[in-house]
Amino acid sequence: MIGSATQNGARVSITGLGCHVPDRVLTNDELSAMVDTSDEWIVERTGIRERRIAAPEEALSDLSLPAAEQALEAAGVRAADVDLLIVATVTPDMAFPSTGAILADRLGAKDAAAYDLSAGCTGFMYAIAQAHGMVAAGLSKTALVVGGDALSKILDWTDRSTCVLFGDGAGAVVMERVAEGGFLGFELGADGSGGVHLLQPAGGSRLPASPETVSDGGHYAHMNGREVFKFATRVLVSSAEAVLAECDATIADVDVYVPHQANVRIIDHAAKKLGVDPERVVINVDRYGNTSSGSIPLALADALQDGRLRAGELVLMTGMGAGLTWGSGLLEWTATNGAR
Ligand SMILES: CC(C)(COP(=O)(O)OP(=O)(O)OC[C@H]1O[C@@H](n2cnc3c(N)ncnc32)[C@H](O)[C@@H]1OP(=O)(O)O)[C@@H](O)C(=O)NCCC(=O)NCCS
Repeated sequence: MIGSATQNGARVSITGLGCHVPDRVLTNDELSAMVDTSDEWIVERTGIRERRIAAPEEALSDLSLPAAEQALEAAGVRAADVDLLIVATVTPDMAFPSTGAILADRLGAKDAAAYDLSAGCTGFMYAIAQAHGMVAAGLSKTALVVGGDALSKILDWTDRSTCVLFGDGAGAVVMERVAEGGFLGFELGADGSGGVHLLQPAGGSRLPASPETVSDGGHYAHMNGREVFKFATRVLVSSAEAVLAECDATIADVDVYVPHQANVRIIDHAAKKLGVDPERVVINVDRYGNTSSGSIPLALADALQDGRLRAGELVLMTGMGAGLTWGSGLLEWTATNGAR
């Protein structure tokens, strides 16, 4: 799917932004005491130095609630005014009810359509494209989109090839119509034939939970790192180029590049291929690891806090992940109420 986001004349933007990570920091040295790995290997192969891990009693809605409250406050919007709430995640509180519905209740968003969206680490990009469509069409006036995951809950902590890569966290954005600026276009895609390379096989209707699925590790995340690496380096470039072309923009127009934070080598490769200057690239994978759907909003929040997101600047975001899926968005940043 590809398209300009301004065709019907409606401008939609992010008008508030918030994020939240758990308190617990897990360092590479601590991981080295758990599995056969080292700080040196993890830093050299991934760029990750530490990640945040949710407490046993903390679920996704607990991470999402503070992020959502911050986003609403920044936008100057009351929870009661939210009419659409999408939570992009692969680690909801439970299979059902949706974390969207749970979060809407906890926020007091009584009039919101609320649901979850599953697109792996690309979930946030899919969700903002969907919210954009609903706000631009007039179905929603005030949308709240949360991207977040607590992947630590589905990791096999004896598998060094996955457990060093991921962390927990959530980000949230309010999306509303604006007078000018805002989203210029999106490009989203999926290739289900690659789904086998990154999956949690059990617990659904294909392999319902059973003593065997538990003993076989079917409820853990499984990944073919090399295949995902190849896919990631390819689509981060092709998706970004596609959305830029669709919006009649070039990479030279991009002020801030916010790629999915999976691995610094993947980010460096994409930035180089695209021709983005290193100083325009937002990187926080060193502190958070791969937070899946939380990654892009957490990176946006960092960039905003560092003063790197100013009204009028062009922001290119690209995510990729399980599905396999990918998605890009091009946004002319507008001042959020909280960031004037
Ligand atoms: C996982 C990843 C970091 C592995 O890096 P790599 O350079 O490709 O490493 P390889 O898979 O070639 O493995 C090299 C060796 O390191 C070993 N290894 C894997 N994890 C290790 C770890 N944590 N510590 C030490 N050694 C490790 C492997 O067993 C392998 O050993 P072998 O050669 O004896 O078989 C990399 O493939 C990657 O980032 N893939 C994409 C993952 C991703 O982004 N997933 C989420 C997408 S949303």
